[in-house]
Parts: sequence; C-alpha cells; structure tokens
Amino acid sequence: MDRIRIRGGKPLAGEIRIGGAKNAALPLLAAGLLTNERLTLTNVPQLADIATMTDLLAVHGVAVEPRDEAGRVLSIGGAITNTTAPYDIVRKMRASILVLGPLLARIGEARVSLPGGCAIGTRPVDLHLKGLEQMGARITLDGGYINAEVTGRLRGGAIILPFASVGATENLLMAAALAQGTTTIDNAAREPEITDLAECLIAMGARITGAGSHRLTIEGVEALHAATHPIVPDRIEAGTYACAAAIAGGELLLRGARFDHLAALGRALDDAGVELSEVEGGVRVRRQNGLRGADVMTEPYPGFPTDMQAQFMAVMAVAEGAAMITETIFENRFMHVPELNRMGARINVHGASAIVRGVYALSGAPVMATDLRASVSLVVAGLAARGDTIVNRVYHLDRGYEALEAKLASCGADIERLTG
Ligand code: UD1
Repeated sequence: MDRIRIRGGKPLAGEIRIGGAKNAALPLLAAGLLTNERLTLTNVPQLADIATMTDLLAVHGVAVEPRDEAGRVLSIGGAITNTTAPYDIVRKMRASILVLGPLLARIGEARVSLPGGCAIGTRPVDLHLKGLEQMGARITLDGGYINAEVTGRLRGGAIILPFASVGATENLLMAAALAQGTTTIDNAAREPEITDLAECLIAMGARITGAGSHRLTIEGVEALHAATHPIVPDRIEAGTYACAAAIAGGELLLRGARFDHLAALGRALDDAGVELSEVEGGVRVRRQNGLRGADVMTEPYPGFPTDMQAQFMAVMAVAEGAAMITETIFENRFMHVPELNRMGARINVHGASAIVRGVYALSGAPVMATDLRASVSLVVAGLAARGDTIVNRVYHLDRGYEALEAKLASCGADIERLTG
C-alpha cells in the first residue's frame, strides 16, 4: 500500500495550481442524471472520488466520457437504465446519496443504499429524505436501502431545513429543478459548491433564484437540456496549501484560487501571523515571522470550514501560545489529534473543543488517519517536523488531493510517495 514520506524543515516557495472542487464536482456529476442530453463539465479534478461517482453513473446506465487527454473535460449522457445505487459503491463514498434526488425527479423511483456511519460521525440523511417526502415522495427503508418513489412528478414544497446541510440542499435543489410547481428551501446551505450547482442547473434550463443565500426558490421545469459548466476552484485544496505554507514558512501563489471563498480561513491565518492576499490569477500566502495561537470554531459557510479544521490544527500545533479549536459540524472529527500528539503536539480534547498548546517543534513519526482531511493534516504537520514522517493509508489522500506530493515537491518540500 502506498505511503507518503515527508522530511520536514524546508520552507515553501513557488506556485501551486488549484484544481476544480471535489465537493462541487460530485453533485455536478449527479446532475448529469437530470437530462437525457449531454452535460459537459470542465476543470474536473482527477480524484478517486470522481472515479467512484463515474462508476455509479455507469451502474445507472449513464456514461461519463473524457473529452480531453487529461480527463479535465467530462461529458455525461445516456438513458437511465437502472435506478439502484448499490451498497458496494455507496459504502466507498457517502456523496453517492446525491443520485437520490435526480433519479427520483427523472424516473420517479430510486433505490439507494443507506450510507451508514463513517469515520467522522454518524452522518444521517434524514433531512434529504424528509425534504423529498415533502415533495410527494414515498420513502421506505428495507435491507439497508432507501426505496423512494413518486406517482407522476415530484411537487414543489416549502421546505425548511433544521440544519443547513450541504448534501440535503444539493439533493433537494436537483429534485426541485424537475418538480411540478415552485419549491422553496429555507435555511439552505450557502457553500460556494451550492452556488456552483445552481449555476450549472440554470445553464441546463432550471429556474433558480437565491443561490448563496438562506432561501432558494426553484420553479420546476419539465425537462432540462445540454450545457457546459466549468467547476469552481477547490477552496479546501487551496486552504490546505495555505496551511502548508503557514507551517513551513515561505510564500506560495495558489493559482486559480478564489480569495472570496477563503475569507474565514484568511481571518484565522491573519490572527496566526500569516498573510493571505488576493493577487492577479489567484491568492498569495506568506509567512515571514513566527506563528501565534488563534482560536477557531467551525461553522457552515461563510464560517470557518470543518474541512479545514484538521489542517489548521496542525499549524496551531507549532504556534506560540494556545489555540482553542471547536468543531460544531461533525461529532468525532478529532481523529487526527492522537496522531498529531504522537508527533509531539500537545493537544487535549474536551467535548467539541480541542486545546492546542503550541510546541517548539514536532518530530516525524509513522502516522495514519481515517479520513481525508485528517490524513492531509498529518502531511501538513510533517512539513514542519524534524526527521521523517510516514503517512500511511494514502488512499484517503487520493480521494481528494490531486498530485499532492508533486505539487508540494515543486515548491521545495522534501516529500515523496513510496509505492508498494
Ligand atoms: C459536505 C461535504 C463535506 C463537508 C460537509 C460540511 C461533500 C461531498 N461533502 O458533506 O466535505 O465536511 O459538507 O461542510 O460536499 N446532517 C443530518 N441529517 C442530514 C444531513 C446532514 O443530521 O440529513 C448533519 C450531519 O450529520 C452533519 C451536519 O448535518 O453533522 C453537516 O452535514 P452536511 O452539511 O450534510 O455534510 P455533507 O453534505 O455530508
């Protein structure tokens, strides 16, 4: 099994190209189920999760074809021949649940395996199901599967989400695009990936207003059509490399990153003594002096992203003073803490908060993590650790980071992938 070896202590300098957002690409691929015509996506990242979603669409009978050599342009199309999303694929990737809304809206039935628990908490899908029921779907659970059906078309409804769930907002937005009548989604998630999905659906002929706000209004249409859509740059990939520069020191240009999508992280880095600024073509991150402890609390967008919590904690592990990091989105999302502590960090978890007491230096160690962002936080920590850090279970990283070691190595990091 592949591992990544990092020898810490090298400052970073240079440029890293930021790819299309994984968390935008996954719902956009699912949106391809909403029409018989071709949906073409550009700026597609090359990631294991994209391959998993492509496999799932193939199970439904819909082909995802590359239109260029690098696979950055994908064209989705074909008739849906099967409405079952099997356990074998869903268990690999929870975002598979995003086919539920589109299948139901298009075909009137769907059978999707329940995703079940995962490393970062129980993560139920009740909000997805309640919203679809409000739109007229009949939903039953049996044998670990969600069975959903509707007679005729889904109907518009007034949906109020008790929590601004990203996935539920996306599933309901896609379903509502083809429903009969008008749907409102209140307390909708406002993440840039939702706005990106709405923009793509609008290009396909959907009638949506309010994307990026707490209230989405969707006037259902009978059919959607072909469109081409560029995927928004990945703010979490950009934020991760910003943390890499913060911990290693030096200066990076994050080419293609959107500064406006990094505001909460930018404020936290500023508190910590790291400068994030908008420049032509992207975002620049620079650290010249020492790091200071800075408190953060994760919140739905535009708050500090839960997907940046682990990486920021790694940075705080070597800051002067203490930092309190509070996780409000997922329970049990501190799996990286024991591994960071094995590298010499001083972190204590109390309920939903972690107190990080900065240490002078971390020391390299063999480490492993159980989810994507936890794994990458160990790579970030390794950049500042004395000696070698070996990160095991690299398949987690391959789900969400394209060419991680090559991108960091090109900016001066001493990092390599060990295969076999
Ligand atoms: C998405 C992102 C993930 C990110 C998360 C929060 C994708 C593919 N994944 O995940 O990287 O960490 O947003 O920004 O885009 N919840 C319920 N019932 C539901 C749905 C959610 O209780 O029906 C709870 C979850 O358990 C969790 C919270 O709501 O505690 C947030 O989940 P949600 O926003 O839905 O995250 P995902 O869409 O799964």
